[in-house]
Amino acid sequence: SRRPSIYYRPINPNDLDRLEQIHRDIFPIKYESEFFQSVVNGVGIVSWAAVDRSRPDGHCDELIGFVTAKFVLAKESEIDDLICYDSSQGEETLIYILTLGVVESYRNHGIAMSLISGVIRYASGLSLCRGVYLHVIAYNNPAIRLYNRLMFRCVRRLNGFYLIKRQHFDAFLFVYFVNGS
Ligand code: ACO
Repeated sequence: SRRPSIYYRPINPNDLDRLEQIHRDIFPIKYESEFFQSVVNGVGIVSWAAVDRSRPDGHCDELIGFVTAKFVLAKESEIDDLICYDSSQGEETLIYILTLGVVESYRNHGIAMSLISGVIRYASGLSLCRGVYLHVIAYNNPAIRLYNRLMFRCVRRLNGFYLIKRQHFDAFLFVYFVNGS
C-alpha cells in the first residue's frame, strides 16, 4: 500500500467543507458555522492542517487532521492564577486549543503529536505567550495519553463541564507552560 507523506500547512478557505465534515464526524459537540468561517479565514483563530501528499490527485491537499486555537489574555483566562506576570513589554497571552482531530484511517501515526508540537513551538516563539491550554472530556483516553506524553500538566478536573445530549461530563484542564511560566 501507499506510504503516507504527511505535510503540515495553514488552513485556508478551500478547507471549509472538509473541516466541517470532519468536525461533524468525530466530535460529540456541534460547532456553529461562524466557528468554521473564523477558522478558514483566520479571524481570531490560528490553525494548522495535516494533508497526505501521497494521495491521488484531488485528495493530496485534503485535510486529514487539524488543530484550531485562539489567543486569550492570561489575566482573563481561567488559569490566571497559574501564570507568572513579569512583563513590561505588553500583556501576557495564552493559546487555547479549541479542537484537535485526525481522521480515523490516519490515527496512530503521530499526526496529532506533530500538530500539538507545532502549537507549542509557535507559542514558545511569542515572547508574551505563557502557555498552551485546553479542555478534554474525562473519558477521552487517547487524547489524555497524548497530552500526558507531550508533558502537558493536568491542573484541574471540572465537574460537569460538558453537556452532551442532556448528560453532564467532567473535563480535565491541561496546560503546557512556555516562556518561564
Ligand atoms: N507508529 C506507531 N504508533 C505511533 C506512531 C508511529 N509512528 N506515532 C504515534 N504512535 C502512537 C502514540 O504513541 C499513541 O499511542 P497511545 O494511544 O498508546 O498513547 C497513538 O499512536 C496516538 O498518538 P498520535 O498518533 O500522535 O495521535 P493521533 O494522530 O492518532 O490522534 C486524536 C489522536 C487526535 C486524539 C485522535 O484519536 C482523534 O482525532 N480523536 C477524536 C477527536 C478527539 O478526541 N480530539 C481530541 C479532543 S480534545 C480537544 O480537542 C482539545
